[in-house]
Amino acid sequence: MPDIDPWGDVEVGNYSEKMDKFGIEPIEEVADRMPDHRFIRRGIIFGHRGLDEFLDAREEGDEFAMMTGIMPSGVFHFGHKCVVDQIKMYQEMGAQVTIAAADIEAYNTREMSLEEARKLVVEEYLKNYVALGIDLEDVDFYFQSKAGNNHLARAATFGRYLTQNEMEATYGSANPGKMSAAQVQYADILRPQFPENGGPKPTVVPVGVDQDPHIRLTRDVARKYRDQDFQKPASTYNKFMRGLQGGKMSSSKPKSYIALTDDIEDAKSKIDQAKTGGQDSLEEHREKGADVEEDMVFELLAFHLIKDDEELARIRDEYESGEMLSGELKQIAKDKLEDFLKEHQRKREEAAPQVEQYIEENFEFDINPEA
Ligand code: TRP
Repeated sequence: MPDIDPWGDVEVGNYSEKMDKFGIEPIEEVADRMPDHRFIRRGIIFGHRGLDEFLDAREEGDEFAMMTGIMPSGVFHFGHKCVVDQIKMYQEMGAQVTIAAADIEAYNTREMSLEEARKLVVEEYLKNYVALGIDLEDVDFYFQSKAGNNHLARAATFGRYLTQNEMEATYGSANPGKMSAAQVQYADILRPQFPENGGPKPTVVPVGVDQDPHIRLTRDVARKYRDQDFQKPASTYNKFMRGLQGGKMSSSKPKSYIALTDDIEDAKSKIDQAKTGGQDSLEEHREKGADVEEDMVFELLAFHLIKDDEELARIRDEYESGEMLSGELKQIAKDKLEDFLKEHQRKREEAAPQVEQYIEENFEFDINPEA
């Protein structure tokens, strides 16, 4: 088995081991050239590959790009929000933004029809993306299956630069459906550098380590490709949020995540049921304090709900010293969550018709044909 299977379960865990093994550099090396973002300050983005050239381009006033893809896999939750926050960060830095909807990948690897995949992308992802502040008119958004002949022709010709051995060593098998989806993904990653998009330019792809096999092979293909110059794409790596009950966050376990469309009372009750780092008895808690690293409510606050570092540090200190109880921490999280979800859900309602119109105009299909 390969060490990382991009289509398997996402494992939570030892990031420094993966960094050593695959040559991922620590983000600290370039942190002072990156925006002052909580994901960087808090080590949520922990590593990178090749980010120097990307940052050089930015500092020299050259063009640079950011690329990401959406795999439709159930409801949009706080784990997915990490990607959107990063898109916004790069857009503010001045990057051209490209977003692929992975309907071909979903078709080949998840037993979905292209229509189901597209519908899920629009309903669950795009509407939430727009509500979170992404302007679709400012990005190159496309569905893989409608990416155009140049895109799909390049994806197919990448096959010449790949070997079965390499695919098996990287992915564990050379399953044809996965391999063609992988080649389409390499084209996705290189799309900002297509001649029709302005040619070679530094491009960063923010991912979780599960996608690193694709990054490594795209860098290889970019180097070998004969018919056009490509720069090797850069990447950054973010930690995965763990599930609310500890372990993996998983679309098939609703109690492991909070969806941005969850009913507010349901969402709060998920916090009530979350795994905390508090001690079993009040006495023990006051004496030893909480284990913040094992507290999923604190994790939610640190990833998303508290932007101010001082506020987060104050909570951490009080909780670690035993002064603050798990119930009190949960109350803070529930209040913040309620404010956030109310506002977000209102914005999503507003965004919905806009997104539907955008899809109809740009892709000539109606996502609600029955309605
Ligand atoms: N394979 C990615 C996933 O499972 C989705 C994806 C498709 C993607 N094309 C991409 C991600 C390009 C980053 C860049 O989530």
